[in-house]
Amino acid sequence: MTIKIAPSILSADFKRLGDQVQEAITAGADFIHVDVMDGHFVPNITVGPMVVETLKPLTSANHVTLDVHLMIEKPERMIPDFIRAGADNLTVHVETCPHLHRTIQVIKDADIMAGVTLNPATPLAMLEEILPDIDLVLVMSVNPGFGGQSYIPASTTRIAHLRSILDERGLSHIELQVDGGIHTGTVAEVVRAGATVLVAGSAIFNSNGSVAANFAALKSAIPDSYI
Ligand code: DX5
Ligand code: ZN
Repeated sequence: MTIKIAPSILSADFKRLGDQVQEAITAGADFIHVDVMDGHFVPNITVGPMVVETLKPLTSANHVTLDVHLMIEKPERMIPDFIRAGADNLTVHVETCPHLHRTIQVIKDADIMAGVTLNPATPLAMLEEILPDIDLVLVMSVNPGFGGQSYIPASTTRIAHLRSILDERGLSHIELQVDGGIHTGTVAEVVRAGATVLVAGSAIFNSNGSVAANFAALKSAIPDSYI
């Protein structure tokens, strides 16, 4: 599977968010990743459906997946709003969903992608029953809440383990997304372990280089056989 890159707007310059997203799309972004935080499930507050709705015309005009990562308690209360706002993928945390199957069905009934994720210390076994129902599984490689954190090294074993589970169960079509601490120094090991979608915030949006240059550097760190 060709590796996809999902720039996270969390590290973008919000004064000119539309321009930054357009730069990422022009650079070749496959997904635009929106981190939704509520100050309860994670110790930070970010954006809601209004920002998703604002970005939708940009992503849809360019056939880019508008990827929404919900780090909020009781996500089922807000899912209809994010669907109406135009999310193409909604990812929920298992830690926030006592009725995970029902929550996933609500997302799937809207004919968009459904994703499930788990915190770094949550066992992969939590995914066992839900995997056949979803389109994307996200391995958090940092504790959710902030951009710019360091990649947790144990994530690589988790990605590889999940890759073998997906392949053994005939579920290789499920995207294996990784989020947190992805930069030119960590890309190769994450890809070799079996990731298919790389979320990158601070590696794409920073003051060291343009979005185009940062994106190209990240892409060129992907081993040749995975491009
Ligand atoms: C963290 C978010 C990430 C964040 C990643 O809770 O889920 O998407 O933007 O940031 P970097 O790529 O800087 O680690
Ligand atoms: Zn995220």
